[in-house]
Amino acid sequence: MSFKWIKHYLPRSFSGRAALILLVPIVSLQLVVSIVFIQRHYEGVTRQMTDNMVLELNYLLEQVNSASDVAEGRLFASDLEKPLAMQIALPSKNTGQTIHTYDDLSGRVIITILNSGLKGVLAVDLLSKPKTVQLWIQTKFGPMLVMFPRYRVAATNPHQLLVLMIFTGILMTVIAFLFMRNQVRPIKRLAVAAEAFGKGRVVPYTPSGATEVRAAGGAFINMRDRIERHIEQRTMMLSGVSHDLRTPLTRLKLGLSMIDDEETDALNKDVEDMTRLLDEFLNFAKVNAEDQTIRSEPMEIVNEVVDNVRRQGFQIDILESQETGLMPIRPNSLKRALENLIGNALQYGTRARVSVRKEEHFFSITIEDDGPGIDPNFREEALKPFSRLEPARNQNKGSGVGLGLAITADIARAHGGELVLDKSDDLGGLKAILKFAS
Ligand SMILES: Nc1ncnc2c1ncn2[C@@H]1O[C@H](COP(=O)(O)OP(=O)(O)OP(=O)(O)O)[C@@H](O)[C@H]1O
Ligand SMILES: [Mg+2]
Repeated sequence: MSFKWIKHYLPRSFSGRAALILLVPIVSLQLVVSIVFIQRHYEGVTRQMTDNMVLELNYLLEQVNSASDVAEGRLFASDLEKPLAMQIALPSKNTGQTIHTYDDLSGRVIITILNSGLKGVLAVDLLSKPKTVQLWIQTKFGPMLVMFPRYRVAATNPHQLLVLMIFTGILMTVIAFLFMRNQVRPIKRLAVAAEAFGKGRVVPYTPSGATEVRAAGGAFINMRDRIERHIEQRTMMLSGVSHDLRTPLTRLKLGLSMIDDEETDALNKDVEDMTRLLDEFLNFAKVNAEDQTIRSEPMEIVNEVVDNVRRQGFQIDILESQETGLMPIRPNSLKRALENLIGNALQYGTRARVSVRKEEHFFSITIEDDGPGIDPNFREEALKPFSRLEPARNQNKGSGVGLGLAITADIARAHGGELVLDKSDDLGGLKAILKFAS
């Protein structure tokens, strides 16, 4: 049998679960203890009190039965009425019935003890008169009615104990909850810091709270530092290499131009390709290093890029434009990503279309074109650095180095988003969707 369905009903939050873990055992313990203990205690006290009452009643009975006639018996009884705090009728006109409510547990005890301790019990009525016991008992002179208050034979309800228990229970729960909330806060802060870092933002965070949470926080900070250092080193190394290669390349170009031969054409083209690749790298590294996250309106950047492209005489429309409001983004990186995607669209197609949409947890910029698109099997490949699909097709279409999509995907990831490639239903070409966490 599987208990998976139980998960459905369990609280999801940490404090909820902790409360459950604490409350369930305590409440059940309290319940069991109070039911068993109170019940036992209550019964024991009732038994003792009724036993005492039986002694008094036996004494009364003896006195009445020792009388020689009814009048004397009544006299003896009335003498005892006051000191024993009872009301006595002798002889009683009518005899009642033994009745008690169903849930009156101590009532049963009273009736049992009275029956076993006294001779000639006719009836015990616990119900007809509130808080009063009516007992009919056989005497020499016929049935005698004895009435006495219920509290003389049974402990009063343990209300106070219950009220006290519930009250302290609630108070303790509230206090425990407040403490619990303080324990949860550091975990929430860690989650916020980790989530922000996933979106490429570094928020100030110092570990706090219980040892375990502190340890997790410390580990997170170490990891964050290491990743940041790693990215920095990678960029520095790439730009260093690119920069240093430019000088020999320039020399090579110079040397080739001196030769001035038909055969050097191919070599010249290679050198040019290499130069462009290095430039691309350097540009990327520079933007990456300098671009700071600031709050800006993505729609403005989209408009700016689209206007630039349009001014160059390309056909590009903005289909949907939703203001997303100020977002924490790196404006130059976003610009670069857009230029890459729009550049591709117009390089491999003839017209492009841009739409900006705001969703609940992210905003997306979609670029569609009417080119050949990318076969689903090659989409992953196209995102890798230096991958150029179908070289035959690309050769006539200008010469890229195959970094555009890789850089764009990287920029999306640095914003806690992703780059998705799809087929454009309307234009038939590629549909590139840039998703950014907002
Ligand atoms: N809009 C598009 N339509 C069809 N194919 C595309 C499109 N965009 C990219 N591709 C394919 O994906 C490959 C990788 O694109 P990517 O932008 O990374 O490199 P590139 O355009 O060749 O060079 P560059 O680094 O100059 O952008 C391209 O070579 C091309 O084959
Ligand atoms: Mg490209």
